[in-house]
Formats: sequence, structure tokens, C-alpha cells
Amino acid sequence: MSADRIILRRPDDWHVHVRDGDMMKVVLPYTAAQFGRGIIMPNLKPPVATAADARAYRDRILAALPAGMSFTPLMTAYLTDGTDPHDLAQGFRDGVFTAAKLYPANATTNSAHGVTDIARIEPVLERMAEIGMPILIHGEVTDPAIDIFDREAVFLDRVLAPLLERHKTLRVVLEHCTTADSVAFVRAHAASGRIGATITAHHLLINRSDIFAGGIRPHLYCLPIAKREAHREALVEAATSGEGPFFLGTDTAPHALTAKESACGCAGCFTAATALELYAEAFDKAGAIDRLEAFASLNGPRFYGLPPSEERVALDRTPTKAPDLVLLPDGDGILPFRSGETLNWRFVGVV
Ligand code: NCD
Ligand code: ZN
Repeated sequence: MSADRIILRRPDDWHVHVRDGDMMKVVLPYTAAQFGRGIIMPNLKPPVATAADARAYRDRILAALPAGMSFTPLMTAYLTDGTDPHDLAQGFRDGVFTAAKLYPANATTNSAHGVTDIARIEPVLERMAEIGMPILIHGEVTDPAIDIFDREAVFLDRVLAPLLERHKTLRVVLEHCTTADSVAFVRAHAASGRIGATITAHHLLINRSDIFAGGIRPHLYCLPIAKREAHREALVEAATSGEGPFFLGTDTAPHALTAKESACGCAGCFTAATALELYAEAFDKAGAIDRLEAFASLNGPRFYGLPPSEERVALDRTPTKAPDLVLLPDGDGILPFRSGETLNWRFVGVV
């Protein structure tokens, strides 16, 4: 298929970091320009842990949205060892929380308050299973003895499989999955209808060698870290399969340039500036641009029990330059993924 324009229902981003304060003012308009809804990650400092925190954060997001832009933030709770099941359930019933996020403690950026041992939140998990509240999982073990490239695959065996076994009705999203093992795992549980997996644009486009191409490239460092080429290929195959459990989650994770280009650089790729262009490129390369709508606009809402968007967006096959450094008010900046490079697709907008 070689259409020069594609039109699809307006996509949603099922995993997005919009941050807070000045950084949010700068990054939010990029996400809101392309996506109708976003599952907002709660790893602020301090984390968005209670329904009150989430209400306040949602208000700040809506206040930061430029006039005339339509975007619905769907809030998540940051699970800690001390999460109160009642507050969580109440927040879900009141429509404040769409889901809760599980960060194993110290697995990634701002996860220090995460769950130290999943056994500690059993009452929370039981309650979530009961009320149908999805748990969104950063699926990596934190055991330092496990090689960084194996942490996701080991998590499936050690944590996720037993979790699904213990809680037969719990709805789970394996966030930003990066391995063929995860794709196979999700497929093996797909019949239950209670498992989903988000896939980022960058994991469809880079493999682990790209992080070291000609030198160390801190802007390609994210968690989970990109894996070997065979894993990237498995992700492309899953994303373009049209199968229900696989849907779009950019995991756009902006950090200031100075925090990325450092002796100990932060994890996260900022893809929001050209998110759909990047996905279109990956799908097009796989000869599957016609499957982009299922992945980007239909499978996610179906998993979350929400209607797909009634709006339509267009993308053109027109070379476009990815933006250069995006400036922050303090003089620092954020470097977009593929900054300054030419992309093959252009996001036209809502049509
Ligand atoms: C994310 C961040 O910076 O908040 N970083 C990342 O590499 N993806 C956290 C996360 O989603 O793991
Ligand atoms: Zn993330």
C-alpha cells in the first residue's frame, strides 16, 4: 500500500509523561496536538499517589493546555507500599483514576517510592481485580544480579506470570514492552481479554546497537533499554498485526538536555514532538500503514472500555524535519528524538 495521505480516527497515547510546571507547559502542546486522550504517568516528585493528588495534577494539566486544544488527561495512581485500597477504589469510582501504575522500586526514573515487593500490595491488587481497575506495569526486575537486557524477560517469569495466576480477573497492561518474550507472553494470555501491552515508537525504530552507533548516544537511552534487532522485529510484527492487546503508548519521557548529557544521564526519549510521524514510519517500512489505525486508535479504547474517537487526523507522506532543540524557560532545552533529521511522514492535524 502506498497511499500518500492516510486518515485515521484520532489516536490516543496510552503512556505519556507530561511532567509538571514549566516543562509541562513546553511538552504538553505536542501531545495534545496529536492525541485525543493520554494515560498520564504519575512519576512526579513527589508521586501522584492519592486521588487528591490526581485531581490536583489533572487540574494543572488542564490549566496548562493552550486555548482551543482538546485533550483529555486520564489519570493514574502511583502505587507505593502504603497505597490505601479505599482511596484507590474511591478514586476509580469517582472517575479520577483510570488505572494504577506499578513501578518496582528503583526500576526507572522517579520510582524510588515504588513497590518494594509486590506481596506488600496484595490487598490493593485484590481490590483492583474486584472493581476492574487496570494495573499498568513497568515490567522489569530490579535485582542487580540480572543483566539490564534481561530484566524484562525475567520479570515475566518471576512476577507477571504468578500475578496473573493469583488474580484471575485482574486487568493488566505490560507497559512499553521491548522483547519477543513479552510479545509471546501477551499472546499466550490474549484469550482472557485482560492483558494489553503498549509499544513505543522508539522501540519500533531502534535496537541496542543504535545506542552505541559511533559513540554513546544518551538521547537513545531509555528504560526498558532497547534490545537486539530480533526483538525490535518482534515488536514491529506485533504492533502491525492488528491484534487487540497491542496498542500505542509513546512513553515520551522528556528530560532537560543537561540531565541527559551527563556522566550519569537520565533514562527517557522525548518523542512527543513527532510521535505519529515516527509510528507511521515504522508501520510504512513494514508495509502495514493500513494497520496503524487499529494500533493507534482502536485497540487502546477497546481495552479500556472507552469509545474510539469520532475525530479524524491525517498524515501525509511528505519529508519533514524533526524539530531542533525545544527550549525551556530556564535556558536549558529538550532534544527531540531524531532531532534535525528528515522524517518521511508529516502530521497534518485533525481534519
Ligand atoms: C521514564 C521517565 O523518564 O519518567 N523514563 C524512561 O526511560 N522511560 C520512566 C519510565 O517510563 O520508565
Ligand atoms: Zn514511562
